[in-house]
Amino acid sequence: MKRSDNASLKQLNSFAVEARAAQLVEIERAEDLQVFAREFRFDRERDLILGGGSNILFAGDIDGTVLLNRLVGRKVIDESDDTVLVEACAGENWHRLVEWSLEQGFSGLENLSLIPGLAGAAPIQNIGAYGVELADVLESVETLDLADNSWRVFSADGCRLGYRDSRFKGVDADRYLVTRIRLRLQRRFTAKLTYPGLRSELDSMGIIEPTAKQVSDAVVRLRLRKLPDPAVNGNAGSFFKNPLVTDGLANALAQEHRDMPVYPATDGMRKLSAAWLIEQCGWKGRRLGGAAVSEKHALVLVNRGNASGAELLELATAITDSVREVFAIDLVPEPRIVRP
Ligand code: FAD
Ligand code: EPU
Repeated sequence: MKRSDNASLKQLNSFAVEARAAQLVEIERAEDLQVFAREFRFDRERDLILGGGSNILFAGDIDGTVLLNRLVGRKVIDESDDTVLVEACAGENWHRLVEWSLEQGFSGLENLSLIPGLAGAAPIQNIGAYGVELADVLESVETLDLADNSWRVFSADGCRLGYRDSRFKGVDADRYLVTRIRLRLQRRFTAKLTYPGLRSELDSMGIIEPTAKQVSDAVVRLRLRKLPDPAVNGNAGSFFKNPLVTDGLANALAQEHRDMPVYPATDGMRKLSAAWLIEQCGWKGRRLGGAAVSEKHALVLVNRGNASGAELLELATAITDSVREVFAIDLVPEPRIVRP
């Protein structure tokens, strides 16, 4: 187990903002996890679990311990004629797991290609993209309950997954350290091409009946075109969730704004486009100190160089205020925000 004191977190978050942790603990081997479970008392108020740092904004320091679970490994643990059950350790890079699954001839993860971060964080917000969510493939999640350092396995239902949500982001935030996830993948591929733009991307590649790998390639092309590269300009992907509003409100707004995108959602709700709302308020491409709204995508806040977490948070607050003023809609941030 690697430990360091007063550690910089700048290289450990995709916004690349400076922040410090009083202590950094890195679990590198299976034995480390046993030692950690035996000796460490995790304090939800003070300590933090960090994966790849691609969905977090540090606007303050961590007075306690930042825990990194870097255990890797992936394997098939069960199979039938039609499906396989794949188990991945929390420290596995998500996109590499997707690539590996496709190389094995398993499908189900292709639409989730190129999402940054580690496998252990995938259930935290039920990662989703291009018409598929983790919920579509998740079988179970193995965790260490940090309240009493006991092991607990949650079925997919038990994780209470929703749109960019789960029990691990809500009531049980910071209680469970995800150690492994299990995914039910398919041996026979059926393309899911409902997301606007995916079919036309394949058309532009000259592909009529795609393989899973070709769907993955199309998703990668779309993502590289649409989203700013965090290695160039620090960001955390979408900074806000797309708002879920009642049917009535969506219809009323759509009457007033004829070009407003409205998407179907469950339980009598509709999903609006946060990017569209932000762009209408004039924020796309605007800058506030070192923080800016991406010129490529209005939903992505970027670090133009030396932004602090506080500057990015200030920009997010200004955007939230103006969307509320113009549309009477409260945007909800997607990444975790560590406040001072
Ligand atoms: P971190 O940012 O390190 O952590 C996120 C949260 O999970 C924190 O609350 C942390 O405490 C908790 N956590 C992390 N690991 C564990 C663990 N092992 N056990 C318990 N809790 C843990 N997300 C999408 O859903 N869809 C997208 O299309 C998408 N596109 C993105 C594009 C870009 C360019 C970027 C930068 C981000 C994007 N994201 C997207 C957000 C992000 O990639 C995902 O949320 C990802 O799952 C975060 O993984 P991470 O390992 O970086 O988690
Ligand atoms: N749009 C604008 N201005 C922009 C960009 C987009 O008005 O600058 C409008 C357009 O009408 C466009 C619509 O927004 O058609 C939707 O845009 P896009 O297809 O890029 O999707 P999104 O709703 O902005 C969501 C997820 C992404 C995910 C993509 C693809 C959320 C909060 N974001 O973005 O997830 O990759 O769909 O499925 O749900 C993330 O969570 O970090 C993330 C990147």
